Amino acid sequence: MNENANPTRPEVDFMDKAFIQQPFAAYERLREEEPVHRFLLPGGQFAWLVSRYEDALKVLQDSRFVTNPPNAGNEEASLPSHQEVISRNLISVGPEDHRRLRRLIQKAFTPRMIEGLRGRIEEISEELLDTIAGKGTRKMDLIEEYAFPLPIIVICEMLGVPLEDQDRFRGWSDVIMEGFNNPELDQASDEVMKAFVDYLQELIAERRKHLQNDLISSLISVEEEGEALTEQELYALVFVLIIAGHETTVNLIGNGVLALLEHPEQKQMLLAQPEFIQSAIEEMLRFNGPAEVSNIRWATEDLELDGKQIRQGDMLFVSLLSANRDSLKFQEPDTFDITRKVNDHIAFGKGVHYCLGAPLARLEGEIAVSALLRRMPDIRLEVEEEQLEWRPGMIIRGVKAFPVTF
Ligand code: HEM
Repeated sequence: MNENANPTRPEVDFMDKAFIQQPFAAYERLREEEPVHRFLLPGGQFAWLVSRYEDALKVLQDSRFVTNPPNAGNEEASLPSHQEVISRNLISVGPEDHRRLRRLIQKAFTPRMIEGLRGRIEEISEELLDTIAGKGTRKMDLIEEYAFPLPIIVICEMLGVPLEDQDRFRGWSDVIMEGFNNPELDQASDEVMKAFVDYLQELIAERRKHLQNDLISSLISVEEEGEALTEQELYALVFVLIIAGHETTVNLIGNGVLALLEHPEQKQMLLAQPEFIQSAIEEMLRFNGPAEVSNIRWATEDLELDGKQIRQGDMLFVSLLSANRDSLKFQEPDTFDITRKVNDHIAFGKGVHYCLGAPLARLEGEIAVSALLRRMPDIRLEVEEEQLEWRPGMIIRGVKAFPVTF
């Protein structure tokens, strides 16, 4: 059956500005009317969008859906070298390589290791707030001046990447994320990936000569000890950590603070009872999380999902944003409640690809929001909420700029 021949099926243009500004009503309709929805990617290929919580769990936890493209081995041979390097990353390798890489890198991201960074993250957030307060204008762009620099400084310090290179990274990672599924940006994306890989090659070659007490040096030591990690995998891992460290936590802080400003009674409650910060962060992740959809999944065999026939080789996306607002799972899903007791959101995904950086992102979010409220309790939006512009693209959910007064 041609799915598109049915005139009653909901049509959603996921790249359309109106959708990106206000996606929740469209997602609700999809969950009700066509929870497994076939749509056309801008590049002309079909994919499925999974919008209900239960289906999302099935896709993310079922080994018949994989993150490495079918025929990846054949295609790789013809990829330009910089793309081949990047294709060896944690997100897109096959299940066996994934298990090995994940085991290696996981050690640096245990909740205990991450908790050890608390003092330094607190210092960074206080320093940023000092600089902002020192301007004397009682205004700032929350993204540009606070939410963005904080996680970048943290990941750069963890990896041992010089801080003075962070502006270059920002430009690169913006192009790469916004270029995803956007053929108009294909060439720009490709050039940027090449520049990024060239940069990493230089940095890693330099670090090999002088190992330091940082994550890149530990990964180099692992690589030099044997077969566990190839040089290409090392580049790809560092690449993914830099991109992930750039694009996500910034929007946990941004979308989270926005939710507080939209719900002044919740903000007041958090000011009066700062001990709610952890459940507040979980609710921010659920209510308007930074990762709108999962990475692509490919079906390795024909199967049925919620009444739809999925064919081997089909592409699927799970909308985490939609699943986290599913009324079949959450009570009053559109209510922002920082005291919510049961909150099994999937903002960090689920299953074997569950976010590696989740403990770090939670800690950064907790420290950043707590310090901001403590130092600037009167913070408010400087523009009407409708004037905030959301970033284009399907993957990342966050505002471009966030002007506030305090
Ligand atoms: C609030 C912030 C963050 C959110 C919402 C988030 C979300 C996610 C999600 C949903 C996935 C799984 C995608 C899928 O299954 O297709 C993921 C994977 C991943 N994340 Fe995060 N992330 C965040 C922060 C971070 C940070 C700070 C880092 C590292 C510095 C990081 C590193 C990774 C890596 C390496 C993976 C791939 C894991 C794998 O494939 O095994 N993330 N993240």
